[in-house]
Amino acid sequence: SPTENFYDAVGGEDTFRRVVARFYVEVAADELLRPMYPEEDLGPAEDRLRLFLMQYWGGPHTYSDQRGHPRLRMRHQPFTIGPNERDAWLRCMRVAVDSAGLSDAHRARLWQYLEMAANSMLNSWV
Ligand code: HEM
Repeated sequence: SPTENFYDAVGGEDTFRRVVARFYVEVAADELLRPMYPEEDLGPAEDRLRLFLMQYWGGPHTYSDQRGHPRLRMRHQPFTIGPNERDAWLRCMRVAVDSAGLSDAHRARLWQYLEMAANSMLNSWV
């Protein structure tokens, strides 16, 4: 329907659960990214990213209920994010998004946002 938002149009929570779970399978195997995650268990980080993306695309506001305003640039300050980290993050996300079975238009819209967001998280030139 014309009023349906992106979250519903792509399949709601199930779709975001699949994408973010696959993303963290890739992160767990990435030698640059894996050591950046403070916790041994990636499960809580997976929950936070999934809930953020669900909220961003028009789903429930559980992320902000639990974490407050996203302020993502500030929350990434403890981590050195240069071009290599950004590229690794986007590589993992590319695998995840490409395996989600989205329509071309939905995949393109989601990808455009993720590339923009990843670039906005850069806080180092090395
Ligand atoms: C948290 C790395 C980009 C969303 C984190 C954490 C790391 C990290 C190490 C801490 C794990 C945790 O405890 O949650 C990176 C790297 C990026 C990147 C290397 C490369 C560009 C992004 C982007 C988004 C995002 C583009 C959103 C589209 C989040 C969220 C959290 C998080 C929602 C949890 C924030 C919180 O509530 O504490 N990220 N990130 N990240 N990241 Fe990223």
